[in-house]
Amino acid sequence: MTPILVTGGTGTLGRAVVRELTTAGQDVRVLSRRTGGDLVTGRGLDAALRDADTVLHLATTLRGGRDVTATRNLVDAATDVRHLVFVSIVGIDRIPFGYYLGKLAAERIVTERPHTILRATQFHDLIRTLLAGAATLPVMPVPAVRAQPVDVRDVAVRLAELASGEPRGRAPDFGGPEVKTFRELAGEYLHATGKRRRVVDLSLPGRAFGGFRDGANLVPGNPAGTVTFEEYLTS
Ligand SMILES: NC(=O)c1ccc[n+]([C@@H]2O[C@H](COP(=O)([O-])OP(=O)(O)OC[C@H]3O[C@@H](n4cnc5c(N)ncnc54)[C@H](OP(=O)(O)O)[C@@H]3O)[C@@H](O)[C@H]2O)c1
Repeated sequence: MTPILVTGGTGTLGRAVVRELTTAGQDVRVLSRRTGGDLVTGRGLDAALRDADTVLHLATTLRGGRDVTATRNLVDAATDVRHLVFVSIVGIDRIPFGYYLGKLAAERIVTERPHTILRATQFHDLIRTLLAGAATLPVMPVPAVRAQPVDVRDVAVRLAELASGEPRGRAPDFGGPEVKTFRELAGEYLHATGKRRRVVDLSLPGRAFGGFRDGANLVPGNPAGTVTFEEYLTS
């Protein structure tokens, strides 16, 4: 059996993907700094790619520029890879936000190899982290925008499915089961954690916020995930 390489297999999504592939009986190899590799410097990359014909590229450094370097290094080294699967973010071409610009540049690099790109909406984990941060304040500020949070377990199932098939370019965008305002999500978070806060909507100037306000981060016509934010909070 040829190994599948998962970059960022120690991350929030990566752990779910590794679990999914391992349960399906795949031989999974992980590249991340915690496993001794580094996509930005190229450390351990050739060894990680040896005999791997499928790569799921999930690593992120959370800095757009570094993500571009990491993806460039991976693509340059992945000359024998049959299928490169890349997870990206819904709306990055309509929301000029720093991290997203790096993601868009990384998508372009990925297209140099036989590839599948899956853009997903915001993960439940990210929304919960943002709300937990806001809830440390006596009055809880939330962006006056909507989100369609998705569970990484749902994204992992879809990525495993795509990885087992042929390269298909851009796959249909993948969103969570519900579109909600941040105010609604904050209400669910407060209910689940037993906290009481006054929630205030926050509007920001700029085109990036405008993109979110216009719903460029949503795929309402294509809800694919099954686990709601409320279910995630109680699971
Ligand atoms: N969060 C969201 O809402 C969301 C939505 C849609 C798409 N995405 C995309 O999904 C992917 C995974 O996101 P996540 O939230 O699971 O990220 P995460 O939890 O921050 O995990 C990032 C992973 O990348 C690895 N990594 C960081 N720097 C590295 C380097 N220099 N070389 C190799 N590996 C490195 C980390 O492991 P080490 O620390 O061990 O290196 C970790 O395994 C990202 O591409 C992200 O853009 C995220």
